[in-house]
Amino acid sequence: MKQLIAGNWKMNGSPASAKALAAGLAAKPGAKCDVVLCPPAPLLSLVVAAIGSSALALGAQDCHANEKGAHTGDISAVLLKEIGCAYVIVGHSERRADHGETDAEVKAKATAALKAGLTPIVCVGETEAQRERGETASVIARQVSGSLPDAATAANTVVAYEPVWAIGTGKTATTADIAVVHFNIREVFKTLPGGSGAGALRILYGGSVKGSNAQAILATAGVNGALVGGASLDLEDFWRIIEATP
Ligand code: PGA
Repeated sequence: MKQLIAGNWKMNGSPASAKALAAGLAAKPGAKCDVVLCPPAPLLSLVVAAIGSSALALGAQDCHANEKGAHTGDISAVLLKEIGCAYVIVGHSERRADHGETDAEVKAKATAALKAGLTPIVCVGETEAQRERGETASVIARQVSGSLPDAATAANTVVAYEPVWAIGTGKTATTADIAVVHFNIREVFKTLPGGSGAGALRILYGGSVKGSNAQAILATAGVNGALVGGASLDLEDFWRIIEATP
């Protein structure tokens, strides 16, 4: 299956840097993986213009569960689709921590994304304390079964495994640990209503992925791409990750 490399810019960038980064990537030769850029919401329209007719796709970092209405400051999946997004990240651990998002809320957002015709990238991941207590498998199973829409299939949904302790810390999970968690995610997915095609589900790894470690991570069994934070802000490092896809 074609791997997916997603750049999560988080709350970083300016109109000038976003334009330079998106146009710089659009000017690179065609990649053998799918690539999606997820800038902050005010830069989405600028980035969609900069990527032009290249194969790069646009993604948002969050959406609301409702289609429209009195939700000041929120953004609907329908509008994201209309302005050119193909993907939306939901349930990132920073949103779960900063905004108290629960699995049920993440599921509602991912359901809205699917309904709007977007591919949700649903994030799951254990904290360091949970890993130390040996709870990784149970936490991930609970998050996967609680956060994925009933309508999720391998074709319309992406899962990202991001151990919270590996995000922005320079620490990455070992490839052996990543393989185990990705295997478990696929097993849990199989038990869901749309889980019959689990073998084709794209499961991304995220957490301090960079040019220098991407090859080993992307070659790991059960890894189908990466969700990249910090390194996605650097054109050449992000390109090294894209080129490292098998
Ligand atoms: P990082 O972030 O690559 O900076 O660790 C990954 C993410 O949070 O998506």
